[in-house]
Amino acid sequence: MTTKAAPAHMQLPYYINGEWRNSSSNETVKIYSPYKDGVVGEVQAITREEVDEAIKLAAEAQKAWAELSIRERATYLYRWIDELLAMKDEIADIMMQEVGKTFADAQKEVERSADLIRYNIEEAIHMYNESMSGENFPGGSKQKIAIVERVPLGVVLAISPFNYPVNLSSAKIAPALMMGNAVIFKPATQGALSGIKMIEALHKAGIPKNIVNVVTGRGSVIGDYLVEHKGINMITFTGGTATGYHIASKAKMVPLVMELGGKDPAIVLPDADLKLATGQIISGAFSYSGQRCTAIKRVLVQDEVADQLTDMLASEVAKLSIGSPEDKATVVPVIDTKSADYIQGLIDDAIEKGAKVLTGNKREGNLIHPTLLADVTLDMRVAWEEPFGPVLPIIRIKDAEEAIEIANKSEFGLQASVFTNDINKAFHLAKKLETGSVQINGRTERGPDHFPFIGVKGSGVGVQGVPKSLQSMTRDKVTVLNLQ
Ligand code: NAP
Ligand code: G3H
Repeated sequence: MTTKAAPAHMQLPYYINGEWRNSSSNETVKIYSPYKDGVVGEVQAITREEVDEAIKLAAEAQKAWAELSIRERATYLYRWIDELLAMKDEIADIMMQEVGKTFADAQKEVERSADLIRYNIEEAIHMYNESMSGENFPGGSKQKIAIVERVPLGVVLAISPFNYPVNLSSAKIAPALMMGNAVIFKPATQGALSGIKMIEALHKAGIPKNIVNVVTGRGSVIGDYLVEHKGINMITFTGGTATGYHIASKAKMVPLVMELGGKDPAIVLPDADLKLATGQIISGAFSYSGQRCTAIKRVLVQDEVADQLTDMLASEVAKLSIGSPEDKATVVPVIDTKSADYIQGLIDDAIEKGAKVLTGNKREGNLIHPTLLADVTLDMRVAWEEPFGPVLPIIRIKDAEEAIEIANKSEFGLQASVFTNDINKAFHLAKKLETGSVQINGRTERGPDHFPFIGVKGSGVGVQGVPKSLQSMTRDKVTVLNLQ
């Protein structure tokens, strides 16, 4: 496995008042690469007083920011895109080392983020206020007119996960800024170097001071303090379901948007195009080692085609490249040892309960070889839990109704894929499945990023996707005109 020598590791400051500062705690949090020995960087473990200052200054600065016209705010974000793209290779190299994504995928993530910021700008510019006449309600009058404006919420706390450290951060920051909010950005610790570099691009773009402040430190240490802080007016979070529930239990009465875990099924019916299904399932389940919220995390295949599909999946898994992101491998070491241990625990439990290993079940440090499990039954943990790793359980079903039942028993409800050539059956399943989205004859995935992206049950609350994200960063404000 290629592991480029660790660079002289970087110790990055946090960002406040338009300046880069070291914390008065004199403490840092070390970031270890998932695939090579040694520390790739350190970020500041900031104090509660520094959190207070970041939020206070952001609240003050937000007022003037909201007064700017939407086109004035857009000029800063357009410059942000230019600076971000100018830093693309630098950020991609850091992202590769920090979260173990291939350089090409990390470059694509930066480009996708630039597109996402641009779409947010353009969409925001084309949003309009509404007006309503009183006459529509019984006994109402034309003399009453409501002007319904969308106004900013104030200071938005944006907390992002490790797996898309730039894309899922810009997906929060760009709509918040366009709608006139200030942002307190708390990147995932593993992912913070890429996140800070992304903000360096915004700094170079000349963003006014305190419109975005970056706070770093372990979520388990500063997370509760941030979430419970009286100065926070909205929380937008992406991460694990357990963290999401914890944050929801701590947050004050502020709007929450949460994108959480998933257990997306691929349901394969007998009339499906099995070649298409195989390709979509393999890329859906194993790219970036399955460390995507939208990865396919279980296959529910009808008995009639189960053997055939299983053979096809096994032969494709055997072709996957495994190793270092520096060698452009598809299956790379997972984010940390804790995660690798958890994944291995799911595999061991399944084997103990009678699952058959078709490929994989081999581990080298954090590198879990792609593991395909057949004969998976509903008493196994892997049938229900999110591995966030390269493990795919195959569960046989007798018919579409059983697929719906098993799919809906999950605590999660992010997406589902249905593979069939019968459009009526596809729509029947789509209607019954308790998920935010259903993909017909395609893998589960988030993009394109202007589509609504929704998790239900343990997969989240609220809606993302460019227009919806913009709306979520505002509230309605009504001014009623009483004509005489
Ligand atoms: P995580 O462990 O839940 O961490 C997410 C973020 O929460 C990190 O910034 C973390 O900070 C912070 N955090 C931890 N404890 C906190 C607390 N008490 N208060 C406030 N913040 C706290 O998730 P992850 O391992 O980074 O990401 C993987 C998970 O995210 C998977 O379950 C995946 O399905 C989910 N995900 C969902 C989506 C979606 O759109 N639905 C997208 C991507 C990922 P530290 O890093 O400092 O601990
Ligand atoms: O990890 C969650 C991401 O939002 C998934 O995005 O489906 O484009 O990989 P993706």
